[in-house]
Amino acid sequence: MLPKEQNELLTRTGSGTPMGELIRRYWIPALLSGEIPEPNCPPAQVRLLGEELVAFRDSEGRVGLLGEHCSHRGSSLFYGRNEECGLRCIYHGWKYDVEGNVLDTPAEPADSDLKKKLRHTAYPTHEAAGVIYAYLGPREKMPLFPNYEWTQVPLSHTYVTKALLECNYLQGLEGECDSSHLSFLHRSFNPSLNQALYQLDTVPIYETEETDFGVRLIAIRKPGPDKQYVRVSSFVMPVSGCVPAGRGSGELDGFEVHMYVPFDDVRTWRYDFGFRRSRPVREEEVHRRKQIGPDYVRVRNARNHYLQNRQAQKTVSYTGIEDFLNHDACATESMGPVYDRSKEHLGVSDKAVIAVRKFLLNTVKASQEGREPPHLVREAKRNRFPHIDCFAQLLPADVDWRQRFGYLTPTAQAENPAAFTFKQKVVS
Ligand code: FES
Ligand SMILES: [Fe+2]
Repeated sequence: MLPKEQNELLTRTGSGTPMGELIRRYWIPALLSGEIPEPNCPPAQVRLLGEELVAFRDSEGRVGLLGEHCSHRGSSLFYGRNEECGLRCIYHGWKYDVEGNVLDTPAEPADSDLKKKLRHTAYPTHEAAGVIYAYLGPREKMPLFPNYEWTQVPLSHTYVTKALLECNYLQGLEGECDSSHLSFLHRSFNPSLNQALYQLDTVPIYETEETDFGVRLIAIRKPGPDKQYVRVSSFVMPVSGCVPAGRGSGELDGFEVHMYVPFDDVRTWRYDFGFRRSRPVREEEVHRRKQIGPDYVRVRNARNHYLQNRQAQKTVSYTGIEDFLNHDACATESMGPVYDRSKEHLGVSDKAVIAVRKFLLNTVKASQEGREPPHLVREAKRNRFPHIDCFAQLLPADVDWRQRFGYLTPTAQAENPAAFTFKQKVVS
């Protein structure tokens, strides 16, 4: 269990809260590129960390992320006119550029210098692989945008989906770090190979390791006397879970990243990224897309009991609910908007969740004391992450998986980063 005050510390993300300020130190997804697809298109409302914002793409294609409410008297800029390199409020015509400069105050006398005295809230943005990211932290502390592998491959080799999760971000994030539930929540009675492996051993051994980016999580299952199934996933600061991709064991071609970005404290944007290193993504691989409505609300949600089918629960799957996305949502949303972790009873199966909480608690406390949080990139030569990798492999029981994966401890990585090449070594 987590004492109430620690639960509060980790779950509250509004402006001025320790966790909220910590998350604001990182680049986080704000919206999909497709929400503002072309210059001068209609703006989009953005909800992020309790803030009401509006995004627009100006006449030159630059993206602006502004406070939604006009600096004049607060009308919503969402209804504004996107024209000639600026967003103009429809109430009295004030116009803003992507930097938050007030370009025009047409209701004021021509010699008014009001616009020069004002600067509207505007956050830096960066567009990569179909997503517009934002940085909401202090300008002088802004890190480089991290060149994650999934932002570097061709666009055709990636996919991204966005869906609303109707609970606190930490519930979603903890689910990502919890390999244990794969043996239950996602169980199919007609399983694929890797799902069968999860079912054959429901009591995995966990190893966790703190790294420069967060926590590496390894779950080792024994599906038979002479076999081991090793699954490597990662928690990456501040709100990402990286998990192995693909339906078959041993799939090495890329992985998935699930980011849990607070909308506010009781709602979360779940962004799912996936990528393939060697080939374009096939549409059928993005099966969850058809689970999400045009407003990013899942078709199956708490109001319709996730369209759970009790007959299917007897014969088809553990839940009787369609798609992993909805399994996770049902499990985490039904905990309540902000789960009170002082009421839980943790077991051995929660070792990875505990490790991630500990990392987050230590990090948030350190940043309260003014220390630099981990995984903020400031040097171009360090802006690459070959050691953030996820995969699952079925191996003979007598193989030393650490050796097999070329797996090194963080100390060894720091001493010799070039030696950290398990991605190459793992292919067999
Ligand atoms: S409220 Fe926006 S111009 Fe007056
Ligand atoms: Fe899950």
